[in-house]
Amino acid sequence: MRMIRRTFVATAVAATAALTAGTAFAQGKEVKIGYALAVNSHYGAAANAWAEGVEKGTNGAYKFKQFPASALGGERELIEGLQLGTVEAAIVSTGALSNFVPDVGVVDIPFLFRDTQHARAVMDGAFGQDLLAKFQKRGLIALAWGEQGFRHLSNNKHAVNGVPDLKGLKIRVTENPVHITAFRTLGASPTPMSWPEVIGALQQGTIDGQENPISVLVSAKLWQVQKHLTLTSHVYAPMALIVSPSFWGSLNAAQKTAFTEAAKKGALASRAFVDNVEKKGVEEAKANGMKVVEKVDQTAFRTALEPAYKEYAKKFGQKTLDSITAVK
Ligand code: PAF
Repeated sequence: MRMIRRTFVATAVAATAALTAGTAFAQGKEVKIGYALAVNSHYGAAANAWAEGVEKGTNGAYKFKQFPASALGGERELIEGLQLGTVEAAIVSTGALSNFVPDVGVVDIPFLFRDTQHARAVMDGAFGQDLLAKFQKRGLIALAWGEQGFRHLSNNKHAVNGVPDLKGLKIRVTENPVHITAFRTLGASPTPMSWPEVIGALQQGTIDGQENPISVLVSAKLWQVQKHLTLTSHVYAPMALIVSPSFWGSLNAAQKTAFTEAAKKGALASRAFVDNVEKKGVEEAKANGMKVVEKVDQTAFRTALEPAYKEYAKKFGQKTLDSITAVK
């Protein structure tokens, strides 16, 4: 009797072990991915496409576990997590990135890109690809450039029709020296702040406004905390799809290819999402009560930014700026 019971228990344990192993294989190794916004945003679109591509490309050996809406902290913490290897993957804006990869700051220069087509050509061309390669020296592996769109200005004080209206406005900016210089030069009072603090600060009135693309405005429903929107298109905002070097080192060559190819698909998914949300996002903002200034005199903004452009040229080299402008 005892013998039969032992055999039964051993068989049951073996069966459970086989099942667990099977499940582990079916689930794949977990890849933690963090990003700032909700799953139904351009970040989520990129993460979903990246996850799907990796699962297919590695025959299920890897499976993404998503931590959207800043669940792993602000972008600075997320980037540090990648460097430390506590997070395997992330999608981040260039906001905090240039504190880690200083060369990235060049893309944050206001009015550097003529339009979306120009920005995409630069990021997909030699310049953007060389920039991705520069992450490695800074303890990060960047695989592709996704997109958020062009940044616009919102605030609670008054309509911003031109540069003089910016005077004294307390605008939250990302923790990004190029953005800080730009808004200071334009006469505003730039307040660097991590994204997870922004909605609360707008609600409490410790800041008057913020600046982000339509994709972010819609995802965060910024009309709930902001009255005025001005379509300044002052800065193109890419986002980077990054993995941690320690995780990257654990992959074989075929898996690295799968992660890279899937990241490119993720980047394209974010661009498609942005194309779509930009078509209807401004109407949605209006329908939710935002007062929208549709156009500003960008030449006047550029002229006001002259002192900042001198600083940027010193920092990044006029040649670099010219090479970006020259891309058709
Ligand atoms: O403003 C920012 O910090 C970024 O644009 C955000 C909202 C995190 C999205 O990338």
